[in-house]
Amino acid sequence: MATISQEERGTWNSKLGFVLAASGSAIGLGNIVFFASNAYQYGGGAFYLPYFVALFALGIPVMIVEFGLGASTRRALPQALSAVAGKRGEFVGWWSLSCALLITMYYIAILGWALGMMVGALGGLFEPGATAPFAPFLEPSAGVSSTVYFFDLIATYWPMLAVLVIWALNGMILIKGTATIEKAVRIFVPLMWLFMIGLIVLALTRDGGLDGVLYLFTPDFAGVSDPAVWKGAFAQMFFSLSLGLGTMTAYASYLPKRSDVVNNSLLVSFMNCGFEFLAGVAIFGLLFAFALNPVGGTLSLSFFVIPQGIAEFGALAKVLGFAFFFLMVVAGLTSSISLIEGPAAALRDKLGISRAAALAIVFVPGALGSLAYTLPTIVDPGLAANGTLGLSLLDMMDHWVFNYSLLTVGFLEVIFVGWVLGASKLRRAVNLHTRIPLGPWFDVVLKYVAPGLLGFVLIWSLIQEFGGGLYAAGNPLGGFDWLPVAVPLFWLIFTLGGAAYLTYGRPTPPPPSPFDTMSDDVSAL
Ligand code: TRP
Repeated sequence: MATISQEERGTWNSKLGFVLAASGSAIGLGNIVFFASNAYQYGGGAFYLPYFVALFALGIPVMIVEFGLGASTRRALPQALSAVAGKRGEFVGWWSLSCALLITMYYIAILGWALGMMVGALGGLFEPGATAPFAPFLEPSAGVSSTVYFFDLIATYWPMLAVLVIWALNGMILIKGTATIEKAVRIFVPLMWLFMIGLIVLALTRDGGLDGVLYLFTPDFAGVSDPAVWKGAFAQMFFSLSLGLGTMTAYASYLPKRSDVVNNSLLVSFMNCGFEFLAGVAIFGLLFAFALNPVGGTLSLSFFVIPQGIAEFGALAKVLGFAFFFLMVVAGLTSSISLIEGPAAALRDKLGISRAAALAIVFVPGALGSLAYTLPTIVDPGLAANGTLGLSLLDMMDHWVFNYSLLTVGFLEVIFVGWVLGASKLRRAVNLHTRIPLGPWFDVVLKYVAPGLLGFVLIWSLIQEFGGGLYAAGNPLGGFDWLPVAVPLFWLIFTLGGAAYLTYGRPTPPPPSPFDTMSDDVSAL
C-alpha cells in the first residue's frame, strides 16, 4: 500500500493559517444555533458552571490530545490511534469518522436551510401574508411571520438545491487541501467575526437588550445538581470545539514538526468560546429586546424566533436578515469543510488514494444523506412535532449522534492516551515544542478527571434514555412510525459496520509510534 508522503499530504503555510482553519472549524452552527438554545433550555445562568468545568477539565485537555496525536503522528485519527492502541484504536478512529459523516449530512442540510432563508430575506421572508401547507398556517399570516415562512420553505424542494450548492462550495474549498482551505479561511473567518460584532451592537442598542444578557450570565446554582445540565454542557462543549470526530487530529496532522500544541489548543479554545459568548449576548439580547419566546426545538431559535425579532427593524429587516443568515452560512461552511476533511484525510492515509478519490468517497453518500434530511414530505400536518420527514429524521439522528458519539469517542481517546499509551508520554511529546509546558497535573486530568466525568454522564444518560421510552417514539410521523427504531439502528450498524470493515476487512500495519523514542529525546534536552 502506497503511503502518502507529508509533502503530498500538504502542510499549513503558516501558524496563522492553521489557527484560522481550526478556529473556523470550531466556530459554526454550534456556537450560534445550538449554544443559545442549549443555554436557554438548561436555564441560562445555570449552564455556566458546568460549561466552564467542561472547558477546562474536558475541552482544552481533549483538544491537546487531538492536536497532539495529529501533530506527532502526522496521520488522521484512525492511524494516529492505531499508533497508540493498535487495532482497537484504529476501530474507534473509524467509528468516530463514520459518525462524523452522519453529522456532516445533517449539518449541511441545516446550512442548506440557512442558505434558503438568506435568499428568502431578500424576497418574501419579511413580507406579510405568508402561508404554509400545515394546518396551523393555512390562513395567510396577518403580519410578517418567519415561522410560517420557514415551514413553507422546508415543505418545498428548494432546500435540496441549496444543499447541493453547499456541497459544491465545500468541494471547491477542499479540492487542493490545505492550500485552498487556507485561502478560504483567511477571508471567511475575519468576515464572520465582523458580522458577529455588528449583530451585538444591534442587539445591545435596543431597549431591553441588556436584560437578556443578564439572564444569560447571572449565575444560578440551582441547576448544578441536575446531571442533565452537565451532560448538556459537555455535549455542547465537544461539539463546539469540534472534538470527538477526528476533525482536530486531521487538521493538526498538517502542522509542521515542532508546532506548539498547547499554545494552539488554548488559542483555538478561547477564540471559540469567546465567539460563543458574543453569539449568546447577541441572541439573548435580541430575544429580550423583542420579548420573544424561544419555545420549540433546537433550530427554532435561529430559524424563526430571531428572524421574527429582525422583522421589527422595518426597512432594515431585509439587510439584517440577509446578514444574519449569511453569517450562519459562512460560519457553518468553515466547519463543514473540517467535518469532511477528517474522513477524507483518513481514507487517503489508509488507502493511499488521491485527494480527489478520497473526497469522492465522502461526497457521494454525504450529499445523498443531506438530501434525505431535506425531504419535504409532510408527515405531521398539525405541526405537533417536526412537520416534514426530513426535519423529523434530522431531529432523531441528531439526538443519537450529538448526545452519544462525541462523548463516547472523547472517553475512549482519553482512556487510550491516558492508560494504554501513558499520559506522560503524550505530555512529554507535546512539551518538546511548547512555551507553556504541561505539568504532571495533566496526567491526572487525562487518567482520572476526564474519563470520570465523561463516564459518569454517559452512563447517566443511557439510564435516562430508555426510562421514558424510545426517543421520538410518540411523535406524529405519518406512515413512518418505525423511524424512531430504524434511525438509532441505522446509526449503530452503519458506523460499527463501517469501522469493522475498514479496520479488520482491510488491515494495514500501524504507523511507527512517534512516542516510543520520546524519552531519549527528553533526556537529551
Ligand atoms: N464545531 C462546529 C460547530 O460548532 C461543528 C464541527 C465541525 C464539529 N467539526 C466537528 C462538531 C467535529 C463535532 C466534531 O458548529
